[in-house]
Amino acid sequence: MSEVDAEDRSGRWWLDRSDLIGKTAIITGGAGGLGEAITLDLASNGVNIALIDRDEAATKRISKELISRGVEAIVHTGDVRKSDDLDALFEAVADKWKRLDILVNVVGGTFKGAFTEQSERAWDALIRTNLTHVLQATSRAVPAMRAGGRAGSIINITTIEGYRAAPNFAVYSAAKAAVAQFARSLAIELAPEGIRVNNVAPDLAPTPNMLGIGSTEASHPMLNPINIRTSIPMGRLGTPSDISNAVIFLASGLSSYMTGMTLHPDGGTFASAGWLNWPDEGFSNILPSSVLQHYTSPPPS
Ligand SMILES: NC(=O)c1ccc[n+]([C@@H]2O[C@H](COP(=O)([O-])OP(=O)(O)OC[C@H]3O[C@@H](n4cnc5c(N)ncnc54)[C@H](O)[C@@H]3O)[C@@H](O)[C@H]2O)c1
Repeated sequence: MSEVDAEDRSGRWWLDRSDLIGKTAIITGGAGGLGEAITLDLASNGVNIALIDRDEAATKRISKELISRGVEAIVHTGDVRKSDDLDALFEAVADKWKRLDILVNVVGGTFKGAFTEQSERAWDALIRTNLTHVLQATSRAVPAMRAGGRAGSIINITTIEGYRAAPNFAVYSAAKAAVAQFARSLAIELAPEGIRVNNVAPDLAPTPNMLGIGSTEASHPMLNPINIRTSIPMGRLGTPSDISNAVIFLASGLSSYMTGMTLHPDGGTFASAGWLNWPDEGFSNILPSSVLQHYTSPPPS
């Protein structure tokens, strides 16, 4: 039973159960894209913020924003792939707050290309950005959470591509799948200490950097309304808030009994697994006749 009186409709239920006020979070890549939304939403829920981001203009912008909101924050410009940069952030958090409750590993990214045409250098870059940085940040966060003695929540931003095939994104897909499996195993190792490890797997929640992937055109095909209606069951693109809502849930006490899991805030694309909502025919997992009629003969195989 909630301790809040059944008649109390003031919102105290949320405050009591979410239990976020006064917590401390580290967000990697917390100044831009999805990271910016996550940082600002954690801050709005009373969480102390520490972030690192390599985009100096973005760190300056978010610093100003956090100051204007009266949020206590540590904002570092740096590269999460560099141990020294991560150490500096974790040390600053230990000095200032002597506790760490939440780690959100946002940094990640990819580029399009056939696996057979990618160099070993390209694989290394993808693995360092999408997998190794998660290991590096997590290995620093766990001792800090233990030292604080108040359990904790670690959240990785993965992607739908870690849970389905992603042709031309094979190494990215493999690295993100590895993060999900790492989280599942670590969740069990840390469960007795109350440190939870979960993932959030977006599909299309356009950010400026993401729109650069796979196309240099100003109007990305992803933004075409017919495409959106056909390929996303809910008929709209995701927004950064759709993703940060899931992160806030996993950071908060509302998910206190969840660990080793992945949330899929994607408008239904992961569940739909190949079913598309065609403009004339509705849902079908094969090409409908209205599309087939445009092809007079099969393409060469
Ligand atoms: N946006 C989407 O639709 C989408 C979909 C699926 C998965 N994702 C995943 O979500 C995460 C964030 O995506 P995004 O679209 O916000 O990307 P983004 O490129 O905008 O990155 C977010 C922030 O991370 C920072 N960053 C990148 N590399 C860094 C590094 N090495 N060190 C420090 N900071 C760094 C960027 O400067 C940026 O401010 C990624 O892990 C991505 O794979 C995003």
